Amino acid sequence: MHRRTFVKNTGTIAAASLLSPNVFASAFAKKQVAMVGTGDRGTGMWGVPVLKEFADIVEFVGLCDINPGRVETAKQFMKLNCPTYTSFDQMMKETKPDMLIVTTVDGTHNEFIVKGMEYGADIITEKPMTTDENKCQEILDAEKRTGKKIRVTFNYRYSPHRQKIYELLRSEAIGTLTSVDFHWYLDVYHGADYFRRWHRLRKNSGSLLVHKASHHFDLLNWWLESDPEEVFAYGALEHYGKNNSFRHTHCRPCPYKDKCKFYFDVTKNKKYVDFYVKNEQHDGYHRDGCVWREDIDIFDKMAVQIKYANKVQVSYSLTTYSPYEGYRIAFNGTKGRLEAWIKERQPWEEQAYDEIQLTSNFGKRELIKIPNNEVGHGGGDVRLRKDIFNPTEKDKYRQAATSRDGALAILIGIAARNSIDSGKPVKIADLTTLKPQVVKA
Ligand SMILES: NC(=O)c1ccc[n+]([C@@H]2O[C@H](COP(=O)([O-])OP(=O)(O)OC[C@H]3O[C@@H](n4cnc5c(N)ncnc54)[C@H](O)[C@@H]3O)[C@@H](O)[C@H]2O)c1
Repeated sequence: MHRRTFVKNTGTIAAASLLSPNVFASAFAKKQVAMVGTGDRGTGMWGVPVLKEFADIVEFVGLCDINPGRVETAKQFMKLNCPTYTSFDQMMKETKPDMLIVTTVDGTHNEFIVKGMEYGADIITEKPMTTDENKCQEILDAEKRTGKKIRVTFNYRYSPHRQKIYELLRSEAIGTLTSVDFHWYLDVYHGADYFRRWHRLRKNSGSLLVHKASHHFDLLNWWLESDPEEVFAYGALEHYGKNNSFRHTHCRPCPYKDKCKFYFDVTKNKKYVDFYVKNEQHDGYHRDGCVWREDIDIFDKMAVQIKYANKVQVSYSLTTYSPYEGYRIAFNGTKGRLEAWIKERQPWEEQAYDEIQLTSNFGKRELIKIPNNEVGHGGGDVRLRKDIFNPTEKDKYRQAATSRDGALAILIGIAARNSIDSGKPVKIADLTTLKPQVVKA
């Protein structure tokens, strides 16, 4: 029996609080968790912090990665004793986890989500849930067939200023919403990093319209509480990839390192050296891949128009070589406008809050300051983990994301990609069996 069930069954939380945490923890079975994909995100967001925050209720029973060196490194990094695997099927058969954390490269999520549920586990998957419409349908069908549950870890929903925007929109502070302007800027460091790594190929990431923008499309779906209906997009690769006169395989042996502004010294980051550099012999993967490689087939500038079932129109763009990181968003309503310009804080800047501006038609402008000094997306990462492993409060802001949420976020990106390829608008209803609803289910 799990702790929460016990507390519920006894009918009183007071009974539970009479027990010391250690006695309490040892009296109940811990949730048995396995992880597939033991790279940076798996170990950094779901490995070490989960072990620290939920040691009394969660137990890791197995780790799996296609790279035998990396999975061993991950085990040491997480200070675990559990078995490690390079065969996913063997891990699932031997460890029979209650929960599977999927943190492999995006294009492989579907395989582990579907099989994981067939082996009897509930799934926690990193975004994007998957990378194309067929894999998405496979996942939705498997969830229905197995009766297991999928959670998609949209951590952006949990940032304090985004939660405040959700609250203001629900209170109709700007009346009925009619349109949204949303523009996201990735800088020449973070933006370039996607072109160095596995993300540079559509088959791995589904392009940044899926890998990165699915975060932003999920925010829109959540904020608007309606489903996307139709998408039209433009996109191009005009900066990275083939758009340079010199290139090499990766940065370390590169003869152009002195003149390349995008030279990246992976050896300065101990975790990257331990996880990737020391395990290159197993899979040939270079964490410091050249941003000018000619095989890069994702877009570096993207513009997307989205029409929602509730008639809201969205203009979205994503830029990957900006001088700074951040985004601008404005919600236009029948009674006013709600807007924010969120810039990543530089180490020398002291501002410990994000600012939202609320202006009423024919009325005043109000500035709302939201503290952002907690680590990990303004404390969002910690709240997301708590919401998954030990939820104690009602989901007041509807932040817990299901497979339907995961699907509708990627379907906008997939529709945008298909639209760029075909030059035509794409209807969300034509991609899978999910039918857009005026008010989100
Ligand atoms: N929510 C967020 O803000 C956020 C941030 C970063 C990454 N992510 C997501 O987390 C996931 C992992 O990203 P990362 O940055 O840790 O990448 P990574 O390259 O560090 O890790 C991916 C791991 O998956 C392994 N892998 C690849 N194919 C596999 C297979 N077929 N079987 C088993 N293992 C396989 C790789 O060897 C690697 O160790 C991605 O889906 C990414 O989109 C989410």
